[in-house]
Formats: sequence, structure tokens, C-alpha cells
Amino acid sequence: MTGQVRGVQLARLLGHWHALPGRRRSPDYAALAGTVRGLLADGRLPLGVRLPAERELAEALRISRTTVTAAYRQLRETGHLASRRGAGSWTMLPGNHRVASTGLWTPLDDREMLDLGVAALAAPPQLLTAARAAVEDLPRYLGGAGYHPTGIIELREAVADAYGARGLPTSADQIMVTSGTQHALDLVLRLALAPGGSVLVESPTYPNALAALAGRRARITTHGLAADGWEPDLLLGSLRQTRPKLAYLIPEFQNPTGHLMPAALRERVVAAAHAVGTDLVIDESFVDLPLDGTELPPPVGVYDRHSRVISIGGMSKPYWGGLRIGWVRASAPQVQRLAAVRVGVDMASPVLDQLVAVHLLADADAIVAERRVQLAVQRDALLGALAQRLPDWRVTVPRGGVTLWAELDGPVSSALARAAEEVGVRLAPGPRFGLDGTMERFLRLPFTLPAADLVEAVGRIAAVRYDLDRTGRQRWREPAVIA
Ligand SMILES: Cc1ncc(COP(=O)(O)O)c(C=O)c1O
Repeated sequence: MTGQVRGVQLARLLGHWHALPGRRRSPDYAALAGTVRGLLADGRLPLGVRLPAERELAEALRISRTTVTAAYRQLRETGHLASRRGAGSWTMLPGNHRVASTGLWTPLDDREMLDLGVAALAAPPQLLTAARAAVEDLPRYLGGAGYHPTGIIELREAVADAYGARGLPTSADQIMVTSGTQHALDLVLRLALAPGGSVLVESPTYPNALAALAGRRARITTHGLAADGWEPDLLLGSLRQTRPKLAYLIPEFQNPTGHLMPAALRERVVAAAHAVGTDLVIDESFVDLPLDGTELPPPVGVYDRHSRVISIGGMSKPYWGGLRIGWVRASAPQVQRLAAVRVGVDMASPVLDQLVAVHLLADADAIVAERRVQLAVQRDALLGALAQRLPDWRVTVPRGGVTLWAELDGPVSSALARAAEEVGVRLAPGPRFGLDGTMERFLRLPFTLPAADLVEAVGRIAAVRYDLDRTGRQRWREPAVIA
């Protein structure tokens, strides 16, 4: 069980549940049950939460209690609710259905395959120049042993300066260089989360973060993102109610939805986290990639006065994943403690790679500007192809990052991913980004491939989407792809 949802909270999630447009009018109890099932399928209502008592929900919705009783009965009959007398009712899925959201990502060797399972760009042309310059620099380090658990000072200074430029003054001793953002997350979890500790995450979220949390046997609660992003009252309510040890959030162009958290909510989240004793792990993987001139709110760390915020970030999205350079920004004592943890893991990051990173960051303005132009062109090509070939899919135009989160015309995401693989397109289906096998009506589509490949991929996906209806493929099978 992951918690309880109150009557007013569920009422807000349910929205206009009894006025479903374009449907034949069904009885109120059936409409209510149907909307709850929809919230479960989309991951907005987590599995294992206790629903409000019938009387409480009836009051919140201003309907009769018999309607709620009948709706709960139907949900029990369809396998979406488990009840025990005196103890309440919990959400579930029929047959205890679960799709693993974590696991091994298999790298792709098949060059014919259009890989939309990975949301990362090929390396920029400046990478080779930076690598050559780094080799020239290397002799400066060869006289020492080469172990720098918090990173070489030049890179820590460059990363600290970049935070300063974003309005968050930072000294080099607040930075620890890691081998990628994923590594940063793992180290932070080792420091800040005892095995079995409680963590709040967004739903949907980045699957490999869930894998890292699984590694700590974390007890996870979720905040279900709405079509337009975080729901402030629900997010703050979850923090206050569940008082997690830690919350993992992706405020800039969230992976997979692309949402950008507004400044006011950032401030409130930090205040609430401080009030309940929650550490915030803020993943800034996409912070360099606003598109369309979108202005960024201040970094979450700006609102932090009590060392509650640990920021993680890296070079994989704006520069290149193969570089494996990331970092943690925390208080100087926390960085020292992280370094002590790290000695038991991998000691330090490679010096040569860090020097490459220093050279790339020295050219950041030019490189990142080119990336943004490239991503905007590719995003627009993807949106254009979707509008033309799959007009029933609903997409919100992301104002940054590298992914869009499409709402499909049915709960077919896993089936579509399997069918697409057969025509040379690899997809990461919606359930990979949820916790419970939900999200079957969603698909993450990165715009990191060249525009022509994206258009080709959408054409193939549209063809198999059409076939899926004709052949009536089985749904809800465990997908083979893990991304
Ligand atoms: C939100 C988020 N965090 C972390 C990572 C992992 O980044 P890295 O390659 O720096 O380990 C990714 C990569 O997709 C991501 O999207």
C-alpha cells in the first residue's frame, strides 16, 4: 500500500467525470467507475492507494452515497478495487497485472532499426576537437596518481560557474563530478536513502531512476502528472501526507512528458519538503535545452535555505551520452560524504574524459545553441508527421527537452511497440515510465533522430497501428523492449 487519497483530492482528479463528451449517456455510477479506471490506467491514480470512504467521496462530489457504493461495487467486480470490511478499499489492476518498468536496456547494433527507444542525440562535431585538446592537456595530470573522487578542479569550477550563470551561486567544493547523471543519482541514493526508505516520484518518470530506486529497495509513492503538468495541491498534499525520506523530481522538460515546473511551485515544493523533512533530488538533465526561446524559471536550488535540495545533472543530453560525465551539486559537507561513499564504488571518474568535458563547456554557448536549433527542427518534423499520419493521437508541444509524450487512441502502447519492432522501429512503450503496468495509452517519442528518420518511423508506426486494429493483437503482454 502506498497511501491514501482523500475525497477532495479524488474529486479533483476525477474532473468532469459525469459529462463524458461523445459517449452514450451511461448511469452516473458507471461513469464514475469508468473515470476511476481511466485514472488508474494512466497512472494518475497509483495502485495500492486507499480510496476515500463512500460517504466522504459522495460529499466531495455532491452526489448520493448509493452512486458511490454502486461505482465501488463495479470497480470490485472489474478487479480494480480490493476491499476489506472495516479497513477500506485499495486500488489494483485486474489479475494483479504488472509490467516491469525497470531492467536492462539492450544497446542497439542493428543499424537498419530506427531507434526511438533512446532519447539522446549523436555527438556534436565539436567533440573531436575537444578530445584532441584534452589529450594536449593531459600531461598536466600525469605526474599525480589520477584519483580525484570529487572530480578535477577545472571541471568542478566550470560546472559551478554554470550554476552561477543560472542565478545559483555555487563554489567548486559544492560540486562532485560523476560518471553520468545516473551515477550521480545512484551515489546520492546510497548517501541519502537507507534500504527500504520511502521516495516520492512523478508518474510517469524516467525508468532508469526507478531502476536505481529498486536497487535501494525504496518504497515508492507517486505523484501522477496531469496533461498540463504537476498538480500543486496534490503534490504538496502527497509530500505532507506521506512524508517521504526523499523526492525525485525532473522539473525541466520532464522525461517523458516534457513539462516545465513553474517558479511558484518550485518555491512551494522546497518549503513543503523542508517542513516535512524530505530531501529533494532534482534531476536537471534537460535544463540546457529550452526550445522556442522558452524562459527558464530559477533553479530549484535557489529556494533552498536548509540544504534540502541536491541537484544532479550532466552532459549526456546537450553534448553526448558516450562521454559519461555528470555531477552532483550539494553542500560542501554533503559532497565530502558523497566522495567517501564513492570510494567504495568506483573511486573517481576518468581524468581524460573530464578534460574533454572542460573543453566542451568552454564552448557551451555555441554548442548548445546549435543543439536547440537541431532539436526544434526535429521536434517539428515529428509533430508534423504525427499530425498527418496519426491525427487521433494527442500531443502537447514540448517547449524543451528531447521527448514528447503522446496520448494514443487506445491502450495499445506495448502491443504497438512489439509490432513496430517487426517493421524496424524500436519504441519505449508507456508502461516503461510507470510503476504498475499502467500508461498503456501513452508512448514516449524522442526527437533525437534526424528529421527524415523520424518521419519514416512515424509512417511505419502508423502502418502497424492500423494493422493492430485489423488483426486484434493481444494487449497487455509483457513487452520485450526495455528502455
Ligand atoms: C531524467 C534523466 N536522468 C538521468 C539520465 C541519465 O543520464 P546520464 O546519461 O547522464 O547518466 C537520463 C537519460 O536519459 C534522463 O532522462
